Amino acid sequence: MTTSYPVSSSRPFDYPRPMSALHCGKVSLEALARRYGTPLYVYSADQIVERLAMFQRALAGRDYLVCYAVKANSALAILKLLAARGAGFDIVSGGELERVLAAAPEAAGRVVFSGVGKTAAEIDLALEAGILEFNVESEPELELLARRAQKLKRKARFALRVNPDVFAETHPYISTGLREHKFGIDIRRAPAIYKSAARHRWLEAHGASVHIGSQIRSAEPFGSAIERVSRLARLLAREGIVLKAIDAGGGLGIDYHSGEFDAEAHVRGYASAIETALGDFEGRLLLEPGRFIVAQAGALLARVLHVKRNGKKTFVVVDAAMNDLIRPALYQAHHEIVPVCWRPGRERVVDVVGPVCETGDFFARDRKLAPVEPGDLLALLDAGAYGMAQSSNYNTRPRAAEALVEGGKARLIRRRETMADLLAPEMI
Ligand code: LLP
Repeated sequence: MTTSYPVSSSRPFDYPRPMSALHCGKVSLEALARRYGTPLYVYSADQIVERLAMFQRALAGRDYLVCYAVKANSALAILKLLAARGAGFDIVSGGELERVLAAAPEAAGRVVFSGVGKTAAEIDLALEAGILEFNVESEPELELLARRAQKLKRKARFALRVNPDVFAETHPYISTGLREHKFGIDIRRAPAIYKSAARHRWLEAHGASVHIGSQIRSAEPFGSAIERVSRLARLLAREGIVLKAIDAGGGLGIDYHSGEFDAEAHVRGYASAIETALGDFEGRLLLEPGRFIVAQAGALLARVLHVKRNGKKTFVVVDAAMNDLIRPALYQAHHEIVPVCWRPGRERVVDVVGPVCETGDFFARDRKLAPVEPGDLLALLDAGAYGMAQSSNYNTRPRAAEALVEGGKARLIRRRETMADLLAPEMI
């Protein structure tokens, strides 16, 4: 009998034989869950490195830098892994910069700093660290950057993050490239701002940047956005402002469903749409992928606590919850769920839910699942991006542990939080 849950080749998780148990490479997930407990995030280092390599292959022959978006998964071990292979980083807070400095201080010069609300303290930290570029989102922010740069006597390389007014089909919460969104500077205002900033002694007009949203599956909107940015770069060049870099942001999507997904072809199509749109721009291309690099490399393991029936519905209650992985609750996101060990029998339609006291605490609704019993282990796939990074302590639940599988061996990269960790900052 073959399984009805093919785990597609775009994922590093597999059943070595039909009806056998789910593995990450040679590592048994059941063994990992026993060793480290559940809920447990497991990541494949090999897949993370391979995804970065896909960008590197697609862009070979041009000047580029892949700045991994730290927000997708900010585990120090993952940052270190990527930095060692030449990646830079896209950060959105002083905290994320501290993470990069802790994991890979040598990568400070490969950091771009995005975000609509940078504080003076965060700007100072980044100036002191000598980051590559500030992606500036408003005129007041540029004024603040100029003041801090002057104060610290450190030249600030900046890019204006322009809002290209391009629609990208994705969930409304993660679409960012329309004029009505809070992000970026109206592209029509940009030339005047560059011209006045060019006169400032402590500012250097280094680049232009754009980010139109996340989980975008077609290359076309990226091409349209970059076309507008390269037009801006040509216009500025005619005025004597020659940009050294265009930052195309992140946003390349993955397939969260169980079908085959040719990741390499996807990256190639994306890179070629951007290259075409760049035209004769000779500077460096910066990219800020997050999800594409880490999402499919990760799974969240959860134990089944109870199987209960309410009326017509069957609920599989697991020990992970919305505080561990909030994507289904927040974006109605789909994550494939597979049993780690198979039981024979017919699939049932169930809801997979967590123990948190909210109806929104679900991982799947009306989903076909092979038979499961209390004590069984389930794997929620494609949880490597915006999983642990968006976790919380809601319901006073200590956050999950994280393990990294590298070269056939697993190691803990974050221990499970303890109650002492949770209570430490509080005073009665
Ligand atoms: N650069 C900027 C400026 C961003 O705002 C983002 C993501 C990225 C790069 C990386 O985008 P990616 O390549 O990962 O799509 N929590 C949501 C996604 C939020 C994305 C926010 N910005 C989710 O779980 O789907």
